[in-house]
Amino acid sequence: MDAEKREKMRRFVEANGHGPELPQYWDEYWRLHEGDQAMKHELFGFFDFRQLDALRSMPVRSVLFAGNGVSQYPRWFAHAGLVVTALDISPVATRIAAGFELEPRHLTVRYGRLSNGRVEPQEWCVTHHPGGTVEFVTGDLRDEAVCPGPFDVIYCDRVLQNYSDAALDDMVERLVRRMTPGALLVASVLNGEAARQSIEASLDRHAVRRVERVGDGHGAQRTAFLRSGSG
Ligand SMILES: C[S@@+](CC[C@H](N)C(=O)[O-])C[C@H]1O[C@@H](n2cnc3c(N)ncnc32)[C@H](O)[C@@H]1O
Repeated sequence: MDAEKREKMRRFVEANGHGPELPQYWDEYWRLHEGDQAMKHELFGFFDFRQLDALRSMPVRSVLFAGNGVSQYPRWFAHAGLVVTALDISPVATRIAAGFELEPRHLTVRYGRLSNGRVEPQEWCVTHHPGGTVEFVTGDLRDEAVCPGPFDVIYCDRVLQNYSDAALDDMVERLVRRMTPGALLVASVLNGEAARQSIEASLDRHAVRRVERVGDGHGAQRTAFLRSGSG
């Protein structure tokens, strides 16, 4: 977020007395981004599609994007033949994400063919699974009645870092309860070493076994933790 938007969000919190734990905060956040250049970044952000490659070799069917924002990654996963749910607390985010019309050119403009001649995952998705639908849901991931799953993979990208340690721990617990045995939880943070440590500690407390730490191909800015369920 640029300095001007950050300042607008600060003023919003000051005037309304609430922050990122409430949907109104995120509605305001997404309204600020809507229609602006930065939106492109939020729609097609940083995802490392090698993760999608890795999923193809696993018995994965259902995927939850928890706190999806406006991201179009769920559609890519649906193209790959997976059953995908995109959950967000903000109705504005859901409206934008669900209303966007993803076209093949969006896939190839952002990610070209690799120099080694290997077919890019996105290209593979569109060629092999031209359809695929995503269920876009507005709701709070802290409410277990919302998108109960269970899911084989849960992505929770840049969400947990907005909460206090206690709230974050509670959210991790609710995510873990939505996982099938042996499921994967990929939780990532942006520029937040302290949040990263809190998430790791919480996953340890909930006995989620670590598989590996995966980078996202964008250096130190973002790190994802890939963990398998204990089942
Ligand atoms: C910084 S954005 C990240 C969006 C997306 N995951 C990405 O990386 O581009 C955080 C998103 O989490 C959502 N969020 C925050 N708390 C949530 C909750 N308790 N339940 C569901 N979504 C939540 C917000 O509405 C917001 O869209």
